[in-house]
Amino acid sequence: MKMTGNTILVTGGTSGIGRVLAEAFHQRGNRVIVTGRRQGLLDRITANRPGLIGLPLDLADPGSLSRLANEIRRHFPDLNMLIANAGISRAEDLTADGWDVGDAEAIVETNILGVLRVTAALLPILKAQADATIIATSSNLAFVPRADFPTYCASKAFLHSWLQSLRHQLRKVPVEVLELAPPYVQTELTGSQQASDPRAMPVDAYVFEVMQLLDQGDHPQGEVLLERDRARRWAERDGRYEAVFAAMNPD
Ligand SMILES: NC(=O)c1ccc[n+]([C@@H]2O[C@H](COP(=O)([O-])OP(=O)(O)OC[C@H]3O[C@@H](n4cnc5c(N)ncnc54)[C@H](OP(=O)(O)O)[C@@H]3O)[C@@H](O)[C@H]2O)c1
Repeated sequence: MKMTGNTILVTGGTSGIGRVLAEAFHQRGNRVIVTGRRQGLLDRITANRPGLIGLPLDLADPGSLSRLANEIRRHFPDLNMLIANAGISRAEDLTADGWDVGDAEAIVETNILGVLRVTAALLPILKAQADATIIATSSNLAFVPRADFPTYCASKAFLHSWLQSLRHQLRKVPVEVLELAPPYVQTELTGSQQASDPRAMPVDAYVFEVMQLLDQGDHPQGEVLLERDRARRWAERDGRYEAVFAAMNPD
């Protein structure tokens, strides 16, 4: 993938990893379309920054996605990169009295169907370009789950598998497929406390490392993984799965 001169659409660009990635690509000389539901944030992020464009998108609303796709076809027909990053996370106690699947449904809707829907809507435009890239954000919890976030981890495992198939199907088309599998990062994904949790990696530091890996083309099997996450990624192959699972999920 080239690192400059692209037209990029970022879902989940109003905060956290998506916002910092969008700004990093913008600083590198790319036109970046930032999307999300919070119009106030879109306005604030894009104010006085030519080449950084805000467009509303609610991935749970098919009408919103088709309006966005029309807008892209009309005004940004050279779109050649999709960063499908939007996601939500909720803890779920499956043993609680009255547990229902509402949170699980919301996670599936955003983290799984949201990625599939935005890919389906924009792939025809991406396929028409000489050089295109799809980056989707999974998680290193795709490889070994944290049991208190069951549907979240499963949604990321789904993406990890689905992206391998997408990559294979697109192997003869100039659309590269990359998977971003972040560690625990300081954002508000699970609430405001996560943004200052000292156990989490600062978001600027995470995106800095990601940009370095992308610059160097250092993403074996299409996976953009920090060095420190490789042990978890390969736990099963290395015969360490049970030990890693137990360390992440103490009794
Ligand atoms: N932070 C971590 O520790 C971590 C670790 C591994 C993976 N990840 C993944 O990284 C991605 C970004 O998360 P983050 O940590 O940066 O959290 P975040 O700051 O909460 O960002 C989530 C983004 O998703 C957007 N979003 C949520 N629901 C949406 C919907 N229905 N339609 C459109 N946009 C929607 C939000 O925008 P609006 O609210 O404006 O719509 C927001 O921009 C997620 O896929 C997450 O699973 C994060």
